[in-house]
Amino acid sequence: MAAHPQASEGPLDVPVAQSLRDRWLGLRDRLLMSRRFQRWAARFPLTRPVTRRRTRELFDIAAGFVYSQVLAACVRLGLLERLADGPCSTDRLASLTGLPGDALQRLLAAAASLRLVEPRSGGRYGLGAHGAALLGNPGISAMVRHHALLYADLGDPVALLRDRRGARLATYWPYAAAAHPERLAAADVHDYSELMGESQALIAGDVLDRYSLRGQCSLLDLAGGEGRFAALAAARWPDLQVTLLDLPAVAERARQRLRRSGLQDRVSAVGGDLFAPPPLQGFDVVSLIRVVHDHDDAAALAILETARRALRPGGRLLIAEPMAGTPGAEPVGDAYFGLYLWAMGSGRARRREELQGLLACAGFRASRELRTPRPLLVRLLVAEA
Ligand SMILES: C[S@@+](CC[C@H](N)C(=O)[O-])C[C@H]1O[C@@H](n2cnc3c(N)ncnc32)[C@H](O)[C@@H]1O
Repeated sequence: MAAHPQASEGPLDVPVAQSLRDRWLGLRDRLLMSRRFQRWAARFPLTRPVTRRRTRELFDIAAGFVYSQVLAACVRLGLLERLADGPCSTDRLASLTGLPGDALQRLLAAAASLRLVEPRSGGRYGLGAHGAALLGNPGISAMVRHHALLYADLGDPVALLRDRRGARLATYWPYAAAAHPERLAAADVHDYSELMGESQALIAGDVLDRYSLRGQCSLLDLAGGEGRFAALAAARWPDLQVTLLDLPAVAERARQRLRRSGLQDRVSAVGGDLFAPPPLQGFDVVSLIRVVHDHDDAAALAILETARRALRPGGRLLIAEPMAGTPGAEPVGDAYFGLYLWAMGSGRARRREELQGLLACAGFRASRELRTPRPLLVRLLVAEA
């Protein structure tokens, strides 16, 4: 049997009593590693469907980077946008994208297999189901574009895990490592603020559909970015006064956006540092939308304490973000955000119970989860001060 390179290195594990589960999993692993068992399972009618599904899953894990680069090519070439008004011939697509005919055919076949595009009558191509859904969410194309940085960082995943200093993604989110984030300039915050703004609409809708602010007088959106969440809340509940806090350069972007939407009298954007916040007190509701997961535990706890101090007694904190261990979407929290935030330089997606533990440490009395329609994108915890 071939030796596994790492298996003989490092200290030996201290023997631990095997539980029944350990033994059962050991047996399962030995079976799955056996080529004889694999051949048998692929032919036996009762195990065949499971074997096919697992083979496909394993292949997708091994090949997923190719799929995401097919999508990256479609986004960079604007291929999906060109199909938004209806199907196109391959000749026209070749001239619009500037790709040689055979390369375009290769890309179209790959994109069709991923349901980004779809063959239509007369040899033309139209949008596929995923391509159409993607066009309905401009945030996805923006996300795919900025993934080029993470893709470069993950070129050598072991090197990234050994030493994340110098990761390119960290330059995109300069606040993660900045000693004085409040000094970041407009140019430093431009790209990430645009990305967050473009993807915020979907998140804000899901959160505010689930948690009504009817009857509340004041909302503080901490680290509220360009203010899309704050603006949607103000637009839905005309009696609500909204305050947003973010880094000075981001708050300035929010002010400009709020002026353009005529909401400047209902939403005020304050520039400051979450970790040395200006005095903000007596709010009915405080929101942290996609904020806590950016920070390591000590910083996350400090943010929750700031949120609690800003609330009136009995006020509510909303935490909305993707979480680890989301049933059916486990790789999103632990694989995607796990490595994404590692490269970014701080934070991690937490399980609901971990967030609830932090909330209790920060002095919140009780917290519960409200189900959102797309838990993969955002889950919602409500805590009582
Ligand atoms: C991932 S973004 C989320 C923005 C917004 N809540 C949303 O969902 O679109 C995190 C936000 O935290 C802000 N931020 C990071 N560090 C901060 C700090 N020390 N003080 C204030 N805001 C900060 C960033 O400027 C950014 O707008």
